[in-house]
Amino acid sequence: MGQKKLIKFAAIKQYENVLEYPQGMPGKWKAYFEKLAREDYPISLDTLEISSSNSPKKNASNKPLVLELACGRGEYAVGLARLFPEQNFLGLDIKGNRIWKGASIANKEGIKNVAFVRTQIEQSIQYFAKEEVAEIWITFPDPQLRLSKAKKRLTHPQFLRLYQQFLQPGGIVHLKTDSPNLYLFTKTVIELYGLTLLTATDDVYGTAFLQSDKWDERYAIKTYYEGLNIASSNRIHYIQFKIDKVLPKDKDETLKEMIAAFEVTETHDAKRERGVKVNEN
Ligand SMILES: C[S@@+](CC[C@H](N)C(=O)[O-])C[C@H]1O[C@@H](n2cnc3c(N)ncnc32)[C@H](O)[C@@H]1O
Repeated sequence: MGQKKLIKFAAIKQYENVLEYPQGMPGKWKAYFEKLAREDYPISLDTLEISSSNSPKKNASNKPLVLELACGRGEYAVGLARLFPEQNFLGLDIKGNRIWKGASIANKEGIKNVAFVRTQIEQSIQYFAKEEVAEIWITFPDPQLRLSKAKKRLTHPQFLRLYQQFLQPGGIVHLKTDSPNLYLFTKTVIELYGLTLLTATDDVYGTAFLQSDKWDERYAIKTYYEGLNIASSNRIHYIQFKIDKVLPKDKDETLKEMIAAFEVTETHDAKRERGVKVNEN
């Protein structure tokens, strides 16, 4: 492993705003962020108080907790934390050296309403209590285009069922992607399972969307991968929807048939998944 990575791994171990595979956190995020804001260090996770109610709707002193999944360097988690001091933001990613970037910026700027968890998203149920999360952003996840990997797409019903276990009822999910295939797949899931689609555009920075009443300052936050244009689509796609229904398992087979029928174009992201080197500079 490179020297730079080792330095970053060592640094995040000392950061109070990075937790690596933390144990026993469900219900404790309110207490954790209060300590982070007061700089009441070191934060001992074992002694954090568990909130009786996690939902801001039930307890006004609860700040909404918003997740950024596959956060990488955490541009959304940090950018949203700057915009919304009255909410708390948590970036999740498996790569500690990427998380280091966002956590370092937050430390430098003194932003106390953002933190990071190093973990597999598949394990996220271990970290949150029922209704503890208000909203989820999924930013430029790997599109997992191969049919055999479809279940790894972060908007696959299997993941949506996972999120539903800790999202507040009707909780909103945002997806930003440069992959037209992932965008269409997600729209298909929303339609097939009868979820509520709030916004969808295949060109979030296009004049029509920018000038529409749907535009929102949050969409202007740019991530590292966003700038790479890996899918070569030259367009950023955005979807906002609610997970407001039980996702029936008996639809999964229909979805499988539908995605098998998708013609996946050989874009850069498909090539990258086949291991063909693509220029990401
Ligand atoms: C294409 S990058 C996007 C990063 C960032 N959101 C951006 O736009 O720059 C995808 C990120 O997802 C993370 N990732 C992929 N699968 C994951 C998983 N199962 N659990 C946690 N992180 C994962 C990777 O480590 C990587 O940082």
